[in-house]
Amino acid sequence: MKFYMRTYGCQMNVADSNEMGRHLKAKGLVETENPDEASVFLVNTCTVRQHAEDRAFSEIGRLRRWKARGPGRKVVVTGCAAERTKEYLEDRFPFLDLVVGAKSIEDFGRIAEGLLDRRETDEDLDYVVPAVDHKLAAFVTIMRGCNYSCTYCIVPSVRGREIYHSVEQILSDTRARAAEGAREITLLGQTVNSYRYGTARFADLLKAVAEVEDVKRIRFMSPHPYYMSDRVIETMAAVPEVCESLHLPVQSGSNTILKQMMRNYTREQYVSIIEKFREVMPDATLSTDIIVGFPGETDRDFRETLTLIEQTQFDWGFIFKYSPREGTPAASLESLPQELVEERHQECLALIDRFAQEKRSKMVGTMQDVLVEADNIGRTRTNYRVYITGTVAPGEEVRVRITSAQRATLEGVIEDGNIDFENFREEDKSACANRG
Ligand code: 5AD
Ligand code: SF4
Repeated sequence: MKFYMRTYGCQMNVADSNEMGRHLKAKGLVETENPDEASVFLVNTCTVRQHAEDRAFSEIGRLRRWKARGPGRKVVVTGCAAERTKEYLEDRFPFLDLVVGAKSIEDFGRIAEGLLDRRETDEDLDYVVPAVDHKLAAFVTIMRGCNYSCTYCIVPSVRGREIYHSVEQILSDTRARAAEGAREITLLGQTVNSYRYGTARFADLLKAVAEVEDVKRIRFMSPHPYYMSDRVIETMAAVPEVCESLHLPVQSGSNTILKQMMRNYTREQYVSIIEKFREVMPDATLSTDIIVGFPGETDRDFRETLTLIEQTQFDWGFIFKYSPREGTPAASLESLPQELVEERHQECLALIDRFAQEKRSKMVGTMQDVLVEADNIGRTRTNYRVYITGTVAPGEEVRVRITSAQRATLEGVIEDGNIDFENFREEDKSACANRG
């Protein structure tokens, strides 16, 4: 029996899909890339913005015909939209076999048991040994939920309060991913750097994960500025495995709007975190999330977001149009006219892209260490995607000269042969020592 998964939304959802996939594989199911071959179709939904939810729901609608085409086919809907609108989903799509909200993902193994037991026949089972995921870059969830109450955000209500995994569990998940071939680990949490377990804090976790054998690179998503302490920044710089790249959502450059959003930091505090970060990791890239058109955002507030982009010179960023989410505090505020939000969105995108292009073009001619993920595509430590000319096997880390930065994916050629991971580590350690 095969299953097919479609995932909407953030990395946390991708990590949840991987986790659910492991449960299904442990039960003897095999993942397929082709929905026509599948007996189970799982849609992992997102509800962070209306657009994401709409896309998932129209896909679910189309699955009625998919299901009718094969006897015993099952449709499973999971994730944040499933948590928010379980009853609505069951009413609107009566053919669904199972709806599992985001808060229940950790119980998925047990919940899915019922689903598989209810199958009519065993005929379509081809008991294949579960395939091992050969994923070079793997996610490890370190915490679930969010204790913040940003006024635009639905996440706290669909994912609940923060729950932290133990350091031991995180290390054992990391070892499992490394044993499956992962060399790059991305630690995930809604406010990942607020992690605490006993006396351990996020910085301690970075050090501990770096010690796991075969882990060459560490990233994390998404940190909250409030917890971006000097200690976390210094640990990033001191631990060679931690990549030179930081995604730190700012949301707005206006203190008035930040306050309305209940973000718990000011523009000045955000800027001073960035200054500290750039001081200790001068070659690192910096990216962000921004929301335009939050209710009450004046032209002046919006200009402040633009000046923040200019001041901070992000290497790239995600610009979102504010989307009211039912039940959040901001949803009761009056929305700005759609055309105005659209206009601001375009202006903000144009500015962030201008810096992104400038930064990318500075990469041309530089040497970068690229971890090859698949089909000649890899990533620099600074998190640029690179297309490499030449023959390279996935899993290799190669030294590449960047030859073109016309598109979002840079292009490069291999030079100086391959670099050995161990040497690479030593190099980095001495670079670190020099930094003092
Ligand atoms: N409208 C628009 N963007 C949102 N985000 C979260 N909630 C909303 C919303 N209601 C954005 C934030 C967050 C990213 C994951 O999604 O920028 O950092
Ligand atoms: Fe949402 Fe704010 Fe929590 Fe991020 S920190 S998940 S934006 S409530």
